[in-house]
Amino acid sequence: MLEVRCFHNLLVGDWLSVWSDQAGRFSDFLAPVSRQILEEQILGNILFDPEGLLLAYLDGVPVGTIHAAFGPNADGSDFSRQIGILYAPIIRSDVPLDRSGVAAALIQAGETYFRRNGTHRWYAGGYSKASPFYTGLYGWTNPEGICDADRETLEVFCRLGYSRFGVSHRYRLRCAPWKSSLTPKIQQVDGRVLVTHFERVTEPSWWEANIYRNFDTEEWNVFPRNGFNDEPIAGAVLRWMSPTFSPYGEIERKDPRYILDYIAVNEAHLREGIASFLLTVVLAGLARHHSAFTLDTVIDARNGRLASFLQANRFQNIGSVTSFYKVVA
Ligand SMILES: CC(C)(COP(=O)(O)OP(=O)(O)OC[C@H]1O[C@@H](n2cnc3c(N)ncnc32)[C@H](O)[C@@H]1OP(=O)(O)O)[C@@H](O)C(=O)NCCC(=O)NCCS
Repeated sequence: MLEVRCFHNLLVGDWLSVWSDQAGRFSDFLAPVSRQILEEQILGNILFDPEGLLLAYLDGVPVGTIHAAFGPNADGSDFSRQIGILYAPIIRSDVPLDRSGVAAALIQAGETYFRRNGTHRWYAGGYSKASPFYTGLYGWTNPEGICDADRETLEVFCRLGYSRFGVSHRYRLRCAPWKSSLTPKIQQVDGRVLVTHFERVTEPSWWEANIYRNFDTEEWNVFPRNGFNDEPIAGAVLRWMSPTFSPYGEIERKDPRYILDYIAVNEAHLREGIASFLLTVVLAGLARHHSAFTLDTVIDARNGRLASFLQANRFQNIGSVTSFYKVVA
């Protein structure tokens, strides 16, 4: 018999068994989650409501999970019951039954939770900066959709009346070790600009502060040498994805991971090599601390410029995610 239960603390082991089964299979997509990480990043978040974290059981055995939660309000100062998001649908690989049936039961249980809370706009997989729970865990970056390799679950969302909302690509740069590839164009930038670098301690909104509360954040800005008091002409933001809380314990990552959360150049200075220069500065900084590291980023599939830039800088496209939405009366 298939049944869906709401999370409670005695089900921690069940949730972990489902997650680790799939983390083993999709190691390039799902990060390992220990008890500490589950506790700190998901259960310990002020936005966590156990009624929204759902587990599917088949004849009493845990086989799947999905997390129904709320998105941010317009200015990011709070959550909004207007926006429901279904995160991280995960079904065990050894389900001796139609996996789609398990996914559908979990999605429908999430919808019931939203209906109970008066939520009529439902997203699946999240969207930009909407995930307080799974940053660095689902897709290793900011979750912005459902893993495209999980075709069955994508099909279930379509079958249940969800429309495609967006596609994002995941890019990865593996440095083991990092080797600089300075071109004359990048070197020329060095003589024209100044770079500031600082650890970020505040975020633009409470929502973002909540998402990134467990991760150190660094920011770089580029200024023209003759205009240091002006606005920066480029900037980058990096998140260090090994949570800073302790004890971190059992899955301390030997391979340090970062998210390139943001990189942009002022329109008046495009194609001058500035972003490549900035990335070189960032990577050289990381290489001083780590002999090997991984930098992930997720970008909107329509952002061709950024995709070309990442490819030119040796990032590899490692997969994509699709987000969905459904509006109900
Ligand atoms: C992507 C972006 C950062 C690139 O900055 P940039 O300083 O112009 O990039 P660079 O000059 O270092 O380009 C390096 C290489 O990337 C590739 N590239 C960069 N922009 C490109 C474009 N528009 N089309 C094709 N290739 C491009 C090229 O191979 C280029 O080398 P080349 O100029 O010698 O041919 C910039 O276009 C930008 O800010 N876009 C908006 C980014 C954004 O949306 N950020 C917010 C979310 S993170």
